This record gives sequence, structure tokens and C-alpha cells, in this order.
Amino acid sequence: MNTYHITVLKGDGIGPEIVEEAMKTLKKAGEKYGFSMEFREALLGGSAIDATGVPLPQETIDCCKAADSTLLGAVGGPKWDNQPGNNRPEAGLLGIRGALGLFANLRPAVIFPQLREASPLKSKIIGENLDILIVRELTGGIYFGERGRGEKNGNIYAYDTEKYSVSEIRRIARKGFEMAMKRNKKLCSVDKANVLESSRLWRKTVADMAEEYPEVELTNLYVDNCAMQLVCNPKQFDVIVTSNIFGDILSDEASMISGSIGMLASASLGAGKSGLYEPVHGSAPDIAGTGKANPLATILSGAMMLRYSLEEPEAAEAIESAVTKALDHARTADIASPQLPQVSCKEMGELVRKFI
Ligand code: IPM
Ligand code: MG
Repeated sequence: MNTYHITVLKGDGIGPEIVEEAMKTLKKAGEKYGFSMEFREALLGGSAIDATGVPLPQETIDCCKAADSTLLGAVGGPKWDNQPGNNRPEAGLLGIRGALGLFANLRPAVIFPQLREASPLKSKIIGENLDILIVRELTGGIYFGERGRGEKNGNIYAYDTEKYSVSEIRRIARKGFEMAMKRNKKLCSVDKANVLESSRLWRKTVADMAEEYPEVELTNLYVDNCAMQLVCNPKQFDVIVTSNIFGDILSDEASMISGSIGMLASASLGAGKSGLYEPVHGSAPDIAGTGKANPLATILSGAMMLRYSLEEPEAAEAIESAVTKALDHARTADIASPQLPQVSCKEMGELVRKFI
């Protein structure tokens, strides 16, 4: 029997509760599909600061590198707001993405049929079905560029730098083209090439690569226009490829179209197979410990791990279809429906496992 070694970074806020449900669900899928899951916990974010003084201890990096894959909850909270920028919980998250070379972040925005009414968009705008994949560059751009502060004539200033090299653009664009080939063969590259030099290089580099993928229909949009198109005509999109910061913003927007950010999973992938899987949402410190958290995004991230890193597609599908069934029977607070009982994070996890 295959045993997978998974590093678990529960993180802060609702992180521990949602990851707990995802771990149990992965174990259950393993029992059914003939593999076992061994979990090893490591510290990241605020909880790591409390225990060790830093948001990303070396031990955590080592633990992730040694594992078959990594599952992450969420990091951050008001408790650590006064940490200097380079020692905030979020710096730990960026640090682990960088240390593991996870340059591609796949963020699917799909609508679960049962949650259509939870979408803020009108039914006619959503159409029959909505299935967008955002491919976000994750280890470059303004998140990792040179930054600093200075003072000139008594006036304090601060700066961050957006910088992309051709090789960085090519490897993320390749992911975009490859994902488009597996889906509806439409790729929209998003930039701000009317203003930014880095975006002009981005656009040209992506265009040059299009010859290698003649079947893919490539379009370009400025990010402001894309933000607008996502709410007025989301059906036009199949795969969107974009930079780190634009992808951060657009993926929150796209996730809300699907009804609740509490439903969306993500995969962060590098050159190797292992990857890191986490929900798109944050640590929601305001509801931590109340049982109100929705574990489904993390459970679905576990399914993505089974598909992309562990090559257990049947188990992945079993989890995904169990989530769909669970939605027919009960809801967590964020996706509450007057017709269905409202359940806690733990109860939702149990319900999903019942359907595996
Ligand atoms: C995300 C988050 C992070 C990001 C934060 C917490 C650093 O918003 O994963 O989208 O900006 O990448
Ligand atoms: Mg974000």
C-alpha cells in the first residue's frame, strides 16, 4: 500500500479547524482507495512567531521539502499586526512559496449548482455553468521585488518594484497554455501593458509563445478591464494567466462570483511534483473557534493534492462528489440556506466523509 507523507501547516485563525477536517477526509479517501496518509505538522505564520520568533522556521522548510506534498490552512491575524513587515505571518507564507519554488498558483473559480443563488451575480450573467481557472504567478513581481523606505526633504517615501524576466514569464505562461489545452483552449493573458514596462514584456513574451500552441485562442486584457469583464461577462473566460499581484486581486473577485470564498481551493506548483495546497480564503480570525468556518475549500484543496501531486484521481473525484452531495444536505454559515440545516465546521467535515 502506498503511504504519502504530508506536511501540514495549520497556521492561524480558522486554519487548525479547517485543516483538521481536510486531514480526516484525506484519510477516509485513502481507506477507500487503498493508500495511507501520514501527516506531520510544522509551524507557519503567527503560531510560528509565537513559538519561535519567526513566521517561517527553517525546520518548516525542511519538513515541506522532505514531504510528498504540503497542506496549508491560513495565516495571519490582528495579534501580529504590529510585527515589522518582514516578520509578519504573511511574510512566512511568501517565504514558503519562494523557498519551495512554487511559481504557479492555480485558482479555479467554479459554481456549485446548489450555490447559484449565493452568487451576487444575476443568473443570466452566470449562464449555465461557470468554470474559470486563474493561473497566478506566485514567486515574482512586486511581491518579491526590491522595496524600501527613504526620506527626502523631510518627506518620507516608500516603494515596491514590479519586475519580471522573460524566463519567469515563460514558465508561468507555459502553465497557462498547458492548462488551456486541457480545458476549452482559451487563454486570456492579463496585464497593464498600456502603462507598465514589465507588462509590455509580459505581453510580448506570451505572444511569442502562442506559436507553440496553435490550438489555443490567446487574448489579452488590461487588468482593469478584466476586473470589469469578470462581473459583466464571466462566461467568456476559460483560463486567465497573470502576474502575482493582479492574480491575487482577480482571484478574490472571481471566487466571490462563485458564491462564497469559503468554497474555493488552490494549488501552488513548482518544477517538482510535490506542491502546496491551500484554500483561497484567509484565516478569518473573527470566527476562529466558533465552529462557523467552512472547511470545504480546504477539503477541496486536499482533493487537488490527490489529483496533481499524488496521482490519485479517483480519490480526488470521490472527495469532490462527496462535497457536492454534502451541499444538498446541510450548509455552513457562509452559504446558509433557509431550506437546509446549518452545521458547524466539524459537522460539515463529517458529512463529506459520510459520502465518500
Ligand atoms: C492569497 C493571500 C496572500 C497573498 C496574503 C495573505 C499574503 O491574499 O494567498 O491570496 O497575497 O498572496
Ligand atoms: Mg489574496
